[in-house]
Amino acid sequence: MLIERGRLRPFDGTITGADPFAVIENGALVTDDGEVVDCGTATAMIEAYPDAAIVDSSDLLTPGLTDSHIHYSQTRIIGTFGGGLLEWLESVTFPEEQKFEDPAYAREIAKEFFDTLEAVGTTAATVYCTSNPVSVDALFEEALTRNIRVSAGLVMMDRNAPSPLLTPAQEAYDQSRALIEKWHGADNARLTYTITPRFAPTSTPALLEAAAALWDEFPSCGMQTHLSENTAEVEWVRRLFPKAPDYLGVYEMFGLVGPGAIFAHAIHLTDREVGLLAESGSVVAHCPTANRFLASGRCDVARLLKAGVRVKLGSDIGAGTTFDMMEVAEEAEGVPKRGRPPAGALS
Ligand code: GUN
Ligand code: ZN
Repeated sequence: MLIERGRLRPFDGTITGADPFAVIENGALVTDDGEVVDCGTATAMIEAYPDAAIVDSSDLLTPGLTDSHIHYSQTRIIGTFGGGLLEWLESVTFPEEQKFEDPAYAREIAKEFFDTLEAVGTTAATVYCTSNPVSVDALFEEALTRNIRVSAGLVMMDRNAPSPLLTPAQEAYDQSRALIEKWHGADNARLTYTITPRFAPTSTPALLEAAAALWDEFPSCGMQTHLSENTAEVEWVRRLFPKAPDYLGVYEMFGLVGPGAIFAHAIHLTDREVGLLAESGSVVAHCPTANRFLASGRCDVARLLKAGVRVKLGSDIGAGTTFDMMEVAEEAEGVPKRGRPPAGALS
């Protein structure tokens, strides 16, 4: 047994209370053969585990960080400017994602991706692959060799993207289903599958139906997509799905709203959409560095939290500018900034 003594942030996953980010200065983490068994003040831990070896740590002792929205296929395009969301997808993102038809390239990027997650302390991630099944196998095969919890899925798209990235709805269903059977629950459920229709503009009604049919059949899978990131995108969705009351209403019409659903960005929302996100138990992945990089607008996180929406953080690599979830948290609304002087200290 080992006691690591240092600054400890015993975060239990709930962002509530007076100071959810409180740190115990004289804290300690107790591990047994690499597994965490306890934590608390150093005095209490030394008393409770008198036979354990003690080492001092200069690091912050914190639980592994979670990234609720990240595209591994965009690892190499971080910081590559291409205009606003829709222009950036076309000029930067889609060309990069086409490279993943090459299994060697997909494997190389999967390694680089997990190396980087490990370096920044991310131990759980919900991941987009590309629309090529090769990219999904490469990611999960590499994940088998790591110690990170991964949920990922094949991107489903059947319109409004370059043709090599498009897959007809039935084929996207068949490919996703085969990947679910192969990977969902693998390695003692450390690896799971998330059904991934990219977003409404690259989906025909048939594709959203296919995604919903998969989710019906495999309800323990997650479901992830993008929602109301950019005003031009919202307007485009209105034209593509004129019968829907709003953007979230498109996903609602097809049965893609509910617990287990993660909607990335969710910036430009009506009150009805906010209410529906809350009452359905859906999750919003707030991606503040990506929102800044693509000038998408400001996500009113306080409004979402006040309405009872579950909000998590995402790096959204490669629109996001850092893998480091501590830096993403710094950029997020309502989160105290680390390492900055208090207001007024410099005046
Ligand atoms: N909306 C649809 N696809 C994407 C993507 O790859 N990145 C971001 N930021 N938004 C999207
Ligand atoms: Zn995204």
